[in-house]
Amino acid sequence: MNLPIDTLGRPLHDLRISVTDRCNFRCTYCMPKEVFGRDYQFLPREQLLSFEEITRLTGIFTSLGVRKVRLTGGEPLMRRDLPELVRKLGVTPGVEDLALTTNGSFPVENIARLKEAGLKRMTVSLDALDEAVFKAMNDVDFPVAAVLDWIAASAAAGLGPVKVNMVVKRGVNDQEILPMARYMRQHGHILRLIEFMDVGSTNGWRMDDVVSAKQIFQTIHAKLPLEPLQPNYRGEVAERYRYADGAGEVGIIASVSQPFCGDCTRARLSADGKLFTCLFAVQGADLRQLLREGASDEELRTAIAGVWSRRTDRYSELRSRQSKNPVKVEMSYIGG
Ligand code: GTP
Ligand code: 5AD
Ligand code: SF4
Ligand code: SF4
Repeated sequence: MNLPIDTLGRPLHDLRISVTDRCNFRCTYCMPKEVFGRDYQFLPREQLLSFEEITRLTGIFTSLGVRKVRLTGGEPLMRRDLPELVRKLGVTPGVEDLALTTNGSFPVENIARLKEAGLKRMTVSLDALDEAVFKAMNDVDFPVAAVLDWIAASAAAGLGPVKVNMVVKRGVNDQEILPMARYMRQHGHILRLIEFMDVGSTNGWRMDDVVSAKQIFQTIHAKLPLEPLQPNYRGEVAERYRYADGAGEVGIIASVSQPFCGDCTRARLSADGKLFTCLFAVQGADLRQLLREGASDEELRTAIAGVWSRRTDRYSELRSRQSKNPVKVEMSYIGG
């Protein structure tokens, strides 16, 4: 079968798999406590795709062009036996890159198991070095030191350079930009500063809370001069810079102020098996139903190729032109 191209000429290259919608953190910009409280109904076990189902679908996605796979959540390590899934995906033909996005809050003993199972790269979310600021953002009193240990252990295990994702919110952690930049480059990690996005419908996003990529750049550049680097590949979400003194790299993700939909080759698979073609989607295509009704590989391939060929998404490019936002699915469900 020919590889599908969407209506804007974009091929399918990356698959981001959410393995659970649960998380042990309640980051205010992602799973605010007021919404994700005690009574919140997470997906019941039987609605989650099994590792066998995820692996089978991934094999079909690679036959349609996917080469890069990222495991996300929620917090992916909330899913028991995650290394088992890594092992299955690692030997799936066509999977050339296998990465994990985690909050780095689990025991570091997990890292060796993930590496041994075939994980290639680690991305860790960390929004501040300052204890009070970080705790206010994760909202579960989780300490910075444990996440720093996870980052260090990941690099030591050969999963580096570790990328560290920091969502910047004005008046909350923007004063942490420089300390984070200094620490991460000193330790050989790549900090990626992310503009706060209006994902989902519950995080109370306001344009005023966004620190733009330009402002983030200036904050660092004023103290630690930066020079632009070429993208690693077409459609890379981060603009890359190196420090002019030669030590280290930093990335800025300008999804709000400079959208990158034009090159977006990412499909997302939710934990309950829906295929989303945009982070800001309202609906997904139910692949779990097809799987559990006994669809053949060929039928699944045709269904996925059809969804991709009809794809028109470019939410971030249109955001500024929309007066009223539709109710979007949450990022913890669809995957970061
Ligand atoms: P590499 O595989 O290392 O290149 O990672 P990446 O550049 O894809 O970055 P990562 O997956 O860590 O994503 C970093 C952040 O960028 C996410 O947490 C989101 O905030 C944002 N992001 C990633 N993909 C998209 C996307 O398709 N659309 C938008 N609007 N934002 C995205
Ligand atoms: N805006 C930008 N990035 C976000 N993330 C979660 N919510 C948001 C948001 N509203 C990022 C986190 C994490 C990844 C899973 O998604 O930083 O690194
Ligand atoms: Fe959990 Fe990551 Fe969302 Fe924070 S950003 S609540 S760690 S899924
Ligand atoms: Fe891709 Fe949608 Fe993000 Fe644009 S907004 S880059 S189409 S996921």
